[in-house]
Amino acid sequence: MFPEHRPRRLRRTETIRRMVRETHVRVDDLIYPLFVKEGSSIHEPIESMPGQFRHSPDRVAPLAKQISSLGIPAVLLFGIPGKKDASATSAHARDGVVQQAVRRIKDAAPDLAVITDVCLCEYTDHGHCGILDDAGQVSNDDTLEVLAKTALSHAKAGADIVAPSDMMDGRVGIIREELDENGFEQTAILSYAVKYASTFYGPFREAAGSAPSFGDRKGYQMDPANVREALREAAHDVEEGADMLMVKPALPYLDVIRLIADEFDEPLAAYQVSGEYAMIKAACERGWLNEDACILESVTSIRRAGADLIITYFAPRLAELLS
Ligand code: PBG
Repeated sequence: MFPEHRPRRLRRTETIRRMVRETHVRVDDLIYPLFVKEGSSIHEPIESMPGQFRHSPDRVAPLAKQISSLGIPAVLLFGIPGKKDASATSAHARDGVVQQAVRRIKDAAPDLAVITDVCLCEYTDHGHCGILDDAGQVSNDDTLEVLAKTALSHAKAGADIVAPSDMMDGRVGIIREELDENGFEQTAILSYAVKYASTFYGPFREAAGSAPSFGDRKGYQMDPANVREALREAAHDVEEGADMLMVKPALPYLDVIRLIADEFDEPLAAYQVSGEYAMIKAACERGWLNEDACILESVTSIRRAGADLIITYFAPRLAELLS
């Protein structure tokens, strides 16, 4: 009751605000996504994601070293292969683009944790995240086998953590089994447990050349309207052996992040996706918003909602802002 309650007292100076601040973003919380493209000497700008590039494995290694020296603990790798086919063969090739990149990065920056995205959409000629059956539907169980092989090939190349993003049922269990049977029981699984069929992936699909050539991903990714389903998805993945969980996208789904953080003890990552990045970039390029302030506020909000880790294309800038 006024005048007894004057909350403004604790907002009066930056020092006092700093003392009562409830949420902190640390460089340790950041994961930087990188696009690796088959070839050499490639450093190609991504049009819908200003400031982000496709790099060939030889170019990504020195960059990874730089990322590591900023204090960022991990990168998340996406591959853009030279060849695509119906069965995503290059996803699990020993010399596939991600496998090459992992080896190079581990050589150049051994302390950097390498996470690999495990999905087939970048490797199939039709752009879906799995193998199609005769009716043109993504066949869940046929896809599992290829995902398991892909995850194993990443682990063999030296990946610390594999991150299945395909949304097939049962993939965490199959991947865990495949890794364990082959002596990779120390390779962790970060599951894209709660991944929505979001329109905010648009720029990513341009970056990775992974847009489906027909239909959409609503038959495997989650309906944006659902939240109880998120609890079931996360529970299944934990049961199957996920070490960490993810909610994706981040900013439009803060309620989901909060729910999963409250219900599960596993470390929780949130993915500030390409469309979230592009929106901020576009508005700031026009001078309508302040970029650094947007970066800090959006990421702070994602942390406040309950995410432990944030996957963000702003990671390098954030590392500078936080230091
Ligand atoms: C799928 C995958 C996607 C993203 C990460 N993994 C795209 C999709 O599901 O269509 C999107 C990430 C982003 O938008 O930044 N392999």
